Amino acid sequence: MEIIERDLGNVKDLPTLPMVLRQVSALIETNETDMKKIADVIMTDTALTVRIIRLVNSAFYGLRNRVMSITQAVVIVGLRAVYNLMLGLTVIKLFKNGKSTHFDPNLLWRHSFGCGLLSQKVAHLVNYSFPDECFIGGLLHDMGRLVLDQYLHDKFAKACAHAIAHNCSLLASERTVIGFDHAEAGAWLAERLNIPDSFVATIRYHHTVACIPQQSIQYADIVRIIATANRICTMEGVGNSGEIHYDDSEKLLDLKQLGVDQKQIAAVVNAEVDSAIAKWNS
Ligand SMILES: [Fe+2]
Ligand SMILES: [Fe+2]
Repeated sequence: MEIIERDLGNVKDLPTLPMVLRQVSALIETNETDMKKIADVIMTDTALTVRIIRLVNSAFYGLRNRVMSITQAVVIVGLRAVYNLMLGLTVIKLFKNGKSTHFDPNLLWRHSFGCGLLSQKVAHLVNYSFPDECFIGGLLHDMGRLVLDQYLHDKFAKACAHAIAHNCSLLASERTVIGFDHAEAGAWLAERLNIPDSFVATIRYHHTVACIPQQSIQYADIVRIIATANRICTMEGVGNSGEIHYDDSEKLLDLKQLGVDQKQIAAVVNAEVDSAIAKWNS
C-alpha cells in the first residue's frame, strides 16, 4: 500500500533481525543436521539461548522432562520450532523500549503471550498440524501496534483519542486517522524482516479473515485460529492490546461447539501466563 510506504518506508531506525536468526534460517534451508554446528550458531547469542530454553520448559510445550541445553531443545522440538521461538522473542524485544503512552507494554506482552498460548490450545482442539507455529503467530499478531506506537507516535496518539471520543474500536480509528491499521503496518514490517509468510499472513489478516486472498489461502486455517484466540483474549481480558471495542462480526471458530467454555479457557491461559512470568522472574 502506497500510504504505508510513504509513512513507514522512510523511517531511518526500523528494526532489523540479528545475524543469529539469519544464520539459523540458512541452516534450516540447507537442512543442516550437524547438532554441534547448529548449537554453536545459536549459542553465539547467550541471552537468547537462555530465554529459548526457559520458553521450551514453560507450560506451552508441556514437556515431561526439563530441557537443559540448546542441543536438547533442538532435538526435542526441532530446529524450525526453535527458530520460531527465537523469532518471536526477538521481535517482541525489538519493541521493548518503545515510547508507549497509550497502552501498557506489559499488558500488550500479556495479550500477545496469552494469545500465543490460546492459539496453540485452539490448534489442538481443531487438530491443526502445527500448534507450535500458532503459538508464535499469536505472539506476533499485534506487532503492528508497536510499529504504529513507535514510528507513527503522534498519529497513533490521535487514533487512540479518536477511539475514545467516538466510542469506536481502535482498529477502526487507526484506519480513519492513520489511513491503515496495525495489521497492515505489522505485516509490512514483517515482510521487510523476511519473517516466514505464514506469520505475515496471520499478522495481516487477523482482523479480516474473510479477506484472505487466493494466493494466501493456504494460511487460512492458522489465521482463523489466531483470530479466534485474539477475540477471546480481547473479550475476556487476557492482557490488553489497547483495544477498547472489539468488533466481533467476523465468522470465526466456535469454541462452544468444540465443548469449550470461553471464560474458563481464558482463565486457564491467564493462570499459565502468571506461572510463566513467576518462573522467569524467580
Ligand atoms: Fe490486532
Ligand atoms: Fe490482539
